[in-house]
Amino acid sequence: MNYIKFSKNNLSVEKMSALSLTKKYKTPFYCYSLAQLKSNFYNFSNAFKQIKPLICFSVKSNSNFHLLKELKKIGSGADVVSAGELLKAIKAGIQTKKIVFSGVGKTNEEIKLAIAKKVLLINMESESEANLINKISKKMSRITSVGIRLNPNIIGKTNKKISTGGKDDKFGLNKNDCINLCKKINKMTNIKLEGLSVHIGSQITNTKPFKNVLSVIDGIIKKTKINFKFIDLGGGMGISYSKKDKKLNLNQYAKIVNKFIKNKKTKIIFEPGRFIAGNTSILVSKIIYIKKSDKKTFIILDAGMNDLLRPALYNAHHNIVPLVKNNKIMKGNFEFVGPICESSDKFLVQKTFSKIREGDYVGITDVGAYGMSLASNYNTRPIIAEVLVHGSGHKLIRKRQSLESLINN
Ligand code: LLP
Repeated sequence: MNYIKFSKNNLSVEKMSALSLTKKYKTPFYCYSLAQLKSNFYNFSNAFKQIKPLICFSVKSNSNFHLLKELKKIGSGADVVSAGELLKAIKAGIQTKKIVFSGVGKTNEEIKLAIAKKVLLINMESESEANLINKISKKMSRITSVGIRLNPNIIGKTNKKISTGGKDDKFGLNKNDCINLCKKINKMTNIKLEGLSVHIGSQITNTKPFKNVLSVIDGIIKKTKINFKFIDLGGGMGISYSKKDKKLNLNQYAKIVNKFIKNKKTKIIFEPGRFIAGNTSILVSKIIYIKKSDKKTFIILDAGMNDLLRPALYNAHHNIVPLVKNNKIMKGNFEFVGPICESSDKFLVQKTFSKIREGDYVGITDVGAYGMSLASNYNTRPIIAEVLVHGSGHKLIRKRQSLESLINN
């Protein structure tokens, strides 16, 4: 179900017209649908209902405190990669027994915090990290539950910059090192190996690489004879950003996992980010200027790459739609750009667009994951507001940063 769509000619977020929100909130701002967030979470858990996995929402994809609280209410755990994300997830009420801590470069302080908070698993990515967790646990008189992150040398067909499971990527341990570390952990007195984790990349829309990962995991289980209490399959489940994008067949993925889990006493963990948050938001922006050059028409928005980095960083595609559609179509070479002093501050190139004028508003779509969480103060611009719509109600869930707070340091 889609909760952000045109109702007649007005782009609506649930029962609110996006245009009416521009009268209440200063653009640019992120605008989320709560119903969409919940529906995505339920769709995910329904697809896997046979195995009842622990779903740990990947906080890096969207760390808005209110959204985390909403996800907690419907049973989500959290996948965190920093002390900040861990503390935020806990503050949002997520039980620490539903939190996994991932990341290649956890610091001393972060490990201490994760141990003190008794997270479900610390997913380790190197032998040095295992030694450090063991040492800190000893000092704290604790036995810490850990997982090992495997690098399966499997590449999900996705953007190179968001692929993490190839042998040259910095993530995890290759099969042999993983098996060796499994053996060495037996001798480490203060850590308990409970999990095997993997995450091969993001925005994967084909189930084949996921299937291949499971067969590598089966190989490891056979070799080590360890019955892992948890197998954490990470995130990576892709969404469609445009009509051209293939849709991930989640039911097919579920079938593959169901088969894998047969005769095993393992709890599956997933760490979806994009699948849960991706299509929950639009970035509402105003057209400041329309500038014609020889070959192009630049449509200059008040949102920039500091508000939404994905197009500039990954060449990522996000549709742009007018908040109010009309039947007049303009043809040309339209470039939707931001105000930032970088040529890469470009969102989209279009050959046709609904007729628009300076002062009109547009929505950049599917920006709920890695939108706000990648935002910055570049060009000394404030972090923008986030608004949550539910039904015909709306509330501010992040206040726009004040200019004063920016200019003092
Ligand atoms: N688990 C781990 C260990 C991860 O590294 C990630 C994402 C996830 C889970 C969640 O992945 P998801 O389900 O969202 O695909 N900034 C990029 C995406 C980077 C993903 C980093 N890791 C983008 O905007 O496309």
